[in-house]
Amino acid sequence: MELNSKEYTEALEAVKKFKIVQNEDAKTSAQLAEVTEGTNSFGTVFADYMAHIKFKANPTDDTHLGLDEIGGSWSGHEVVPFGNISISPAAAVLHYGQEVFEGAKAYKRADGSIWLFRPELNATRLNASASRLALPSLPVEDFLGSLIAVVKQCNQWVPDDRSKSLYIRPFLIASEPFLGMRAAHEVDYYCILSPVASYLKATKPVGIWVSKDYYRSAPGGTGAAKTGGNYAASLKPAELAYSKGFSQVLYLDAANKENVEELGGMSFFAVYSDGHVETPSLNGQILDSITRRSVVELLKDNGIQIDETTIGITKLVEDIKSGKVVEAFACGTAAVVFPIGRLASDDFNVQIGNPDVTGEVTMSIYKQILGIQMGTVPDTHNWCFKVM
Ligand SMILES: Cc1ncc(COP(=O)(O)O)c(C=O)c1O
Repeated sequence: MELNSKEYTEALEAVKKFKIVQNEDAKTSAQLAEVTEGTNSFGTVFADYMAHIKFKANPTDDTHLGLDEIGGSWSGHEVVPFGNISISPAAAVLHYGQEVFEGAKAYKRADGSIWLFRPELNATRLNASASRLALPSLPVEDFLGSLIAVVKQCNQWVPDDRSKSLYIRPFLIASEPFLGMRAAHEVDYYCILSPVASYLKATKPVGIWVSKDYYRSAPGGTGAAKTGGNYAASLKPAELAYSKGFSQVLYLDAANKENVEELGGMSFFAVYSDGHVETPSLNGQILDSITRRSVVELLKDNGIQIDETTIGITKLVEDIKSGKVVEAFACGTAAVVFPIGRLASDDFNVQIGNPDVTGEVTMSIYKQILGIQMGTVPDTHNWCFKVM
């Protein structure tokens, strides 16, 4: 879905709903320059403001009705100083992990303008995740309005350096103090910002551990939702992979223990010597990644055959060994695109292409995505959204 003019207008109207509460401790320009340009890590420094909206379900005696039946409303749109939030120790999110989140970025172009990349897809995905976690959906215009309002307020936080950006983390938490097992009737939406360098850089291919002990999703589970539990469950396998010298974990499907799904926070692509590219199809267990969608469309634009299909790990390893697979890469908002030079597990360890050089297709896709985001490559699909 691209943003049409009506949705664009509604988003701009929604910005007006956000009351701005000034941050008396906001950083000075000099402090800011130091923080944003000095950023070489991911998600450790936070901008001066955050957006907030509150959801309350309508009063009801029948608390076991679903939120769709009970109904409710979002109110109190505000952009407030970034700071600790206060919730009850009994808040449902702290006990049952009822929360969902998103990840986007704001980019500063050479002319100083600030842009978002396909933010309407973050809005629809937040609501798809919310639906799976029995959280209320947030109107798309409020989501987009919050991003525009808070990024505008923090425009000085978007790094000038083209290799950096302002990471945007919108999230919904079940804040109702209630220990019973039902969907919470009070929910808070926040959007916080953090100047970042790329999570991983597309300089040299990295090694990936294919997990055969741990799985991140199952049929009917929450794999396709961007919810904290999936990421908490990926921390231990990630630690094991790091301890073996690998950068990330590639997960297989839990039912067959055979089909490639995705990395803990990125989508997977394999490039074949005959020129075609394969990526696991969206099977309801993997995230509908915005970068994945964009890569698929760009490959098509480039006249490259892209198959969204089932990729068995046994065949993939054989194809790597026989030289049929010449490149592999992972992609996501945080890391953009990065090359994979090795896949290993308990029973294989195979090198893909030249271990020291990023493959041609990987590099070309990386440059196209980053170029579109930064305004140096024509945005023929109208993916970029100007904030200011
Ligand atoms: C599990 C998972 N897969 C893929 C991605 C990449 O998604 P996107 O391109 O929308 O950032 C992410 C990152 O958000 C993720 O968490």
